[in-house]
Amino acid sequence: MWGGPRVGRRSDLAAVGSALKTLRPSGLSPSGRRGPIGDVIDGRRIADEVRADLRPRLDRLRESGTVPGLAAILVGDNPASRLYVRMKGKACEEMGMAHWTLELPVDVAEPKLLGEIRRLNRDPKVHGILVQQPLPSPIRTPEAVAAVDPMKDVDCFHPENVGLVLIGTPRFAPATPAGVVELLVRSGNPPDGKDVVIVGRSNIVGKPLAALLVQKARGANATVTVTHSATRALAEHTRRADILISAAGSPGSITADMVRDGAVVIDVGINRVADPNAKGGFRTVGDVDFDPVRRKARAITPVPGGVGPMTIAMLLSNTVRAAESTASH
Ligand code: GUN
Repeated sequence: MWGGPRVGRRSDLAAVGSALKTLRPSGLSPSGRRGPIGDVIDGRRIADEVRADLRPRLDRLRESGTVPGLAAILVGDNPASRLYVRMKGKACEEMGMAHWTLELPVDVAEPKLLGEIRRLNRDPKVHGILVQQPLPSPIRTPEAVAAVDPMKDVDCFHPENVGLVLIGTPRFAPATPAGVVELLVRSGNPPDGKDVVIVGRSNIVGKPLAALLVQKARGANATVTVTHSATRALAEHTRRADILISAAGSPGSITADMVRDGAVVIDVGINRVADPNAKGGFRTVGDVDFDPVRRKARAITPVPGGVGPMTIAMLLSNTVRAAESTASH
């Protein structure tokens, strides 16, 4: 396992370790079946497992008079951001956790935003703070991220927390990347010793995911390639992957010819595409050409219902951890 977490009793990587003990014999799918098409990894079910693991910790916190609280800051009216923040708040409610959403106008001045972040930093009822991205220009995202108290930075975006992940002593686990790792391990597809290819180098997914997977630890120990917009011959990289993770943010980025037979494919993309037959005229799809890729894959995550629910579960986990650290002081 990684070096001990800085706060809390149990790191998410420890949870990864315990999940390893439940592994099925290699070569068998979670259902024990080996079919001609890949298994669909059920992110909602695995997220439920992660949330179930949090309940006894929430009970202990409640007994000591602490209700973990998450504050979200939403700047502007990006519909996708609004939806994500609403889902995060709903997830808190379902777990009996407190949550607040601070909505600021799209033209809010940066000093006003930073002032609100500092106010939340000082509020003892708030254990976790997230500033939903993307932020509208001219607000500088690095300034906003760095203004969050690192002890309340449940997104794990603050440079101090990013650094701790990189050196293998995480305080918090970055939510989407840690969700991907949990999905892999709990679905019986641990990354250990595998060739993992990540498509996309964002600060939210690609880079921190590479930092997690490369660690010398169970549930990691992968050989990692990060590809990006300047990568030449992308498919030559993706076709080598035992585990292919797409965080490109563009529908149709991963086609069947880019995938090796028997690969595990994790789709982090969440894209809205026009669909006159869908409610609201839009439908949510990932980056991966799902049906043709599934026919080649050993296992694949759907969109929706794959990585998305895991991101929220890991965010809750980080908020519980932040509350535990203040409760123990
Ligand atoms: N935008 C897309 N993903 C995320 C996330 O995990 N956290 C925040 N704060 N913004 C995001």
